Amino acid sequence: MRYLTVALAKGRLAAKAMEMFEKIGLSCEEMKDENTRKLIFTDETTKMRYFLSKPSDVPTYVEYGAADLGIVGKDTILEEGRKLFEVLDLNVGKCRMCVCGPAEAADRLKHHELIRVATKYPGIATDYFFNKKKQTVEIIKLNGSVELAPIVGLSEVIVDIVETGATLRENGLEVLEEICPLSARMIVNQVSMKMEQERISSIIKDMRGIIR
Ligand code: PRP
Repeated sequence: MRYLTVALAKGRLAAKAMEMFEKIGLSCEEMKDENTRKLIFTDETTKMRYFLSKPSDVPTYVEYGAADLGIVGKDTILEEGRKLFEVLDLNVGKCRMCVCGPAEAADRLKHHELIRVATKYPGIATDYFFNKKKQTVEIIKLNGSVELAPIVGLSEVIVDIVETGATLRENGLEVLEEICPLSARMIVNQVSMKMEQERISSIIKDMRGIIR
């Protein structure tokens, strides 16, 4: 039996995903050592391998078949637009993709003014404004702490993830429009889905059984 390889988005999501894998009998002892510098972890009993990567790289590994399965946020799946199957909503890491800004920006949004939109998600922002809203805007790509942009005058609004809303509140910003709900998803390589159909379907079925 060959190894099935799972790519996990580094961070909170990976820990939650491994808890879920453990619950369905796919534990990986090697991965529990917090001091390890290893990049890939193998479980011989279940013939599974797991590795952590930057979230935005998870769909890439899965599209090319370097990983058969992946666990990653819907935000990353939408932004990367890779060819793969999204098979399961894990119902964890729930949050929303939103257009946010100071309350005064609401009118400028409504009147379709040529505003600037700062975001870590230029693909999602472009699709939302240009395709869905038919609104021309200037998209500015940032790499983090996007809430700073409207505060210092880089942009009128931002497109970003809102979880508790605390970051917005503490910085005098609010949700102006909701783009879509987000959560962690399981993704599968399109060839693996056929070649390893039995094992992968059984993982999906078992996971579905423990999802709240
Ligand atoms: C994310 C997101 C918001 C924040 C939202 O940032 O970009 O900044 O979390 O969470 P809240 O609604 O609970 O306050 P992350 O911590 O991933 O870092 P980043 O600023 O580098 O994007």
